[in-house]
Amino acid sequence: MKKILVTGGLGYIGSHTVVELQNKGYEVVVIDNLSNSKLEVKKRIERITGKPFELLVGDVNDPNVLEQLFSKSSFDGVIHFAAFKAVGESVDFPIKYYQNNVSGLITLLAAMDKYETKNLIFSSSCTVYGTVKDLPVNENSPIQEAESPYGTTKILCEEILQDYVKHKPLNVILLRYFNPVGAHPSSEIGELPLGVPNNLVPFITQTAAGIREKITVFGNDYNTIDGTCVRDYIHVVDLADAHVKALEFAESMSTSIDVFNIGTGNGNTVLEVIKAFEQANEMKLNYQIGARRAGDVEQIWADTTKVSNVLGWNARYNLNDMMKHAWKWQENLENN
Ligand code: UD1
Repeated sequence: MKKILVTGGLGYIGSHTVVELQNKGYEVVVIDNLSNSKLEVKKRIERITGKPFELLVGDVNDPNVLEQLFSKSSFDGVIHFAAFKAVGESVDFPIKYYQNNVSGLITLLAAMDKYETKNLIFSSSCTVYGTVKDLPVNENSPIQEAESPYGTTKILCEEILQDYVKHKPLNVILLRYFNPVGAHPSSEIGELPLGVPNNLVPFITQTAAGIREKITVFGNDYNTIDGTCVRDYIHVVDLADAHVKALEFAESMSTSIDVFNIGTGNGNTVLEVIKAFEQANEMKLNYQIGARRAGDVEQIWADTTKVSNVLGWNARYNLNDMMKHAWKWQENLENN
């Protein structure tokens, strides 16, 4: 049985990936510092899969913690999720982001080097493309200056990995996520936003639940079909599945580094997402149009040709499923 280390494995995307890995027969070890996750997620994952896994509560920034992990187990690969992801917070606390996201990767690489771990899947973001002219965006589009320190950390980590594989024997796959939303259909796991959500879908579900009074649509004067921004929303279970496919591919790839967009290939406006939620769940949402949010790109969606051809991965869930599962998860949170 192959053994995989998942950093940040109790987080939103990490927890769904642990489920997919266990379902495919991998043995999973998780390291998570609980900075944006809860211990009970472990039990919830195990309830879905029926299989226990090992958890170390600790920080990937701590070399002693990594030593403890790597000296005990021999890993066939690492999926590295452990990072901060709030765009706005990164503007206020850039050092926190450089330190955690960039140093965390370097500390992890040092341990992987010492113990000769061969495969790494890295969580990147479509934010590295910045404002793109030619849509949909493919993996050869140029990387542009980031709009936030969070975005900068993703670019820096990609650059470090691109450089590192020239000198060391490591297979790396960079996955550039578009907008992950939704939750596991079992409603056992999903996103747990701390405080007021920054992202659209948690804000929608909290508004539907009456926790927030209304949603503000950030700008309706963009050059899009209804004036609101376009994004490529991807179901978190599909995204998790892409990590398993990437891992399988990394083990046998001929180049040392490769990169894939992970999205559905469809763009939807903010108003389309709100309507999709209303239709999927037969509810009305209270929303208003507000000012543009600083740093938002007008529109971006993925060209998924490469990931489909090379990894054989395609999204299976549509926007309706994403909205249904996001709401079911929110309801489950309310009832717990
Ligand atoms: C951003 C980052 C992305 C990161 C993600 C994680 C950029 C360009 N993108 O995605 O890399 O992985 O956060 O947090 O930096 N919206 C509203 N009202 C709301 C909330 C959002 O209208 O209350 C709109 C936004 O203007 C945007 C869309 O909904 O058009 C999606 O926003 P959001 O969910 O925050 O994701 P991104 O900003 O696309």
